[in-house]
Amino acid sequence: MSSVLENNQNEYSVEQFVEKFGFEKCVFDLLKFIEKDNNEIKNIIIAKYLKEKISAESETKLLEYFINNSVFSAATFANPATSVVTEFLYTRPNVSHPIDEYFFASRGGSAIHSRIVNVEENLHSLIEEYLKKDKVLIGNLGGGPGRDIIDVFSKYYKDNNNVFCVNVDRDKNTILRGKRIATMAGVIDKIDFSETSFMRHKPKKKFDIIILVGVLCGLPSETCVLILKLIKKMLAKGGCIIASNVTPKMLEEDPFTYFIMEKITNWHLVFKEEELLKDIFKKAGLKWQKSFSDDYRYHNMGIGTIK
Ligand SMILES: C[S@@+](CC[C@H](N)C(=O)[O-])C[C@H]1O[C@@H](n2cnc3c(N)ncnc32)[C@H](O)[C@@H]1O
Repeated sequence: MSSVLENNQNEYSVEQFVEKFGFEKCVFDLLKFIEKDNNEIKNIIIAKYLKEKISAESETKLLEYFINNSVFSAATFANPATSVVTEFLYTRPNVSHPIDEYFFASRGGSAIHSRIVNVEENLHSLIEEYLKKDKVLIGNLGGGPGRDIIDVFSKYYKDNNNVFCVNVDRDKNTILRGKRIATMAGVIDKIDFSETSFMRHKPKKKFDIIILVGVLCGLPSETCVLILKLIKKMLAKGGCIIASNVTPKMLEEDPFTYFIMEKITNWHLVFKEEELLKDIFKKAGLKWQKSFSDDYRYHNMGIGTIK
């Protein structure tokens, strides 16, 4: 195949490219839009996917096209771990650009949306279980603005003084955002927002439930073990940790979304099978209880207790 730089012409049409890799319609729609908008970018994308050598100039054009036309891409490139990205997928605002519409339509993007839905359902069940015994204190670590907690509290516990959460995040803007969302939802009195690293957080009272969602996905196993070892010390007797991780199924079923994330906006994930997550829990001294997933099974949420 000739280089995109030599003649700006790929061997594959969008139709052939999508058919060759069996991609979904949203990939076709995205590439067709880009072809019309900027054919050179479409050619660079296809060449890059095919692992052709791309010049620095083409790489720059490609990145700039994505960050100048997509909130999701710009936020990811600025900071892959930012909650701006997860919030964007959770809230699915009306957006005008097809790149962002692509992320909402893709299986990978939909799975992140489905993750928060499943986290909230399971969190509610767990809170109910713990409430049978006593008051419940939750630690939402790397909680972003705490949307999961805010949703569950405003839906079920507005008038319940037995449930409280400490939402810890080191990003001051996400804390500010969370305080506003919690105020609007009428649950600000139930959440203590703490702007600090959860690695340094010293809880006044130990947590019954710790939530760690969207934090471990980009980290190697050894680092996950160290984090879980440290935060398990914040657990009260009988307490549990919910920790999420992205599974290899996402890469297998939606390689084009991960291609954009990794190769264009530089967001690297460390995919982990459930067995590996179980091993991480074990090495951290946690007893694996059970797990749940999003509807696509692209994220696995393990629940562990102190041994
Ligand atoms: C992808 S967001 C996920 C937010 C939220 N848990 C959710 O499920 O939507 C990851 C968050 O973890 C935070 N974070 C990562 N490492 C942290 C640390 N060591 N201490 C506090 N916050 C951390 C980031 O600032 C970011 O807000």
